[in-house]
Amino acid sequence: MKNSNRFILLMFVLPFVMLSCNEYTEDIDLKMLASVDVTEEQLIDGREAYQTYCIGCHGENGDGKGPASKFFVIQPRDFTSGVYKFASVAAGEVPHDVDIYNAIDRGLARSSMPSWKFLSANTKNALVAYLKTFSPDTFSEPPGARLSIPQNPFAGDEEAELEAVEQGKAVYHGFTACYSCHPSYASPDEINSYREDIGQPARKYNIDLYEEKYSETVWGDTIVAPDFLKRKLKNGNDLQTLLMTIQAGIGGTAMPSWAGILPDEDLWAMAYFVRSLSIQQGTPQGKISYKENQELKKEIE
Ligand code: HEC
Ligand code: HEC
Repeated sequence: MKNSNRFILLMFVLPFVMLSCNEYTEDIDLKMLASVDVTEEQLIDGREAYQTYCIGCHGENGDGKGPASKFFVIQPRDFTSGVYKFASVAAGEVPHDVDIYNAIDRGLARSSMPSWKFLSANTKNALVAYLKTFSPDTFSEPPGARLSIPQNPFAGDEEAELEAVEQGKAVYHGFTACYSCHPSYASPDEINSYREDIGQPARKYNIDLYEEKYSETVWGDTIVAPDFLKRKLKNGNDLQTLLMTIQAGIGGTAMPSWAGILPDEDLWAMAYFVRSLSIQQGTPQGKISYKENQELKKEIE
């Protein structure tokens, strides 16, 4: 969390969170008990933890409209939609409990969603059970097919890992054209040569090639497809997490799922490439900086 965010949290959000603790809602909708393997006690624990820690941002009814929500550009999730962003299923499918648990545990970097690591595993499980009561229709369906992490063909071989970055760069700018939403990290000539390698004709590029593009989510807010040289990744930037984010896509957003479309080796290569750009690990390992990448623009102008 940036210091400024932490300041906002302390000065404005916590008082609301504390105030809201006194409110007690009517009985929990125990409909969930019929379909899901949870006890009434767990739901009551979950509600208590929710009202203590989450209600200030996510709101009493789980609609993301808690009193603190107006302080944040990235809006707290509306749980009534039943759509979750980061999960081990193809984007848009019903997530597994462990996916929601992980998001609570880890928090989401670059947003105000904090990590709740300090809560016990029991409390976090109870929170998962309680969050699901906000969208009973979604969770009366079984979760989607779990995407596994395939074996990493590059692991442990330094040279192969460097080649993986290059392979990922080629796929990013070739077959998957990730720069249609995220920025490009190659010159127009390079992109055209990647296209040629897969039998696609050369083309001209717009001035926005090196910009991040905005799109709307199912919740109606406008979000950015991040420039990896500039912004942190919400879900984390270790290789396995990146592989999962790329293969699963991001529920409720424009970011599509690439599972079943890209071969495992290309998925891993893409994870290596994005990681080589990512600022999250401290200093970028990549060969390009944000400034250098912006200079590529001049070739188009
Ligand atoms: C300071 C505000 C804040 C508090 C407090 C907060 N959250 Fe969040 N939470 C957010 C924001 C903002 C997002 C949406 C981030 C995004 O979409 O990028 C979010 C998203 C989530 C998600 C969705 C993850 C996904 O993959 O879609 C879950 C689950 C979640 N919060 C659970 C909780 C729980 C449980 C608590 C209390 C223990 C909590 N949050 C407290 C701000 C908050
Ligand atoms: C149609 C638009 C679109 C395309 C194409 C697209 N993305 Fe995204 N991507 C997004 C959006 C929007 C977000 C931001 C989601 C958010 O912040 O909630 C995103 C976020 C991401 C993230 C960050 C996740 C995090 O943890 O914050 C990664 C990594 C990513 N995309 C990789 C890729 C790769 C690799 C490709 C090509 C294979 C790709 N994207 C293609 C729209 C797209």
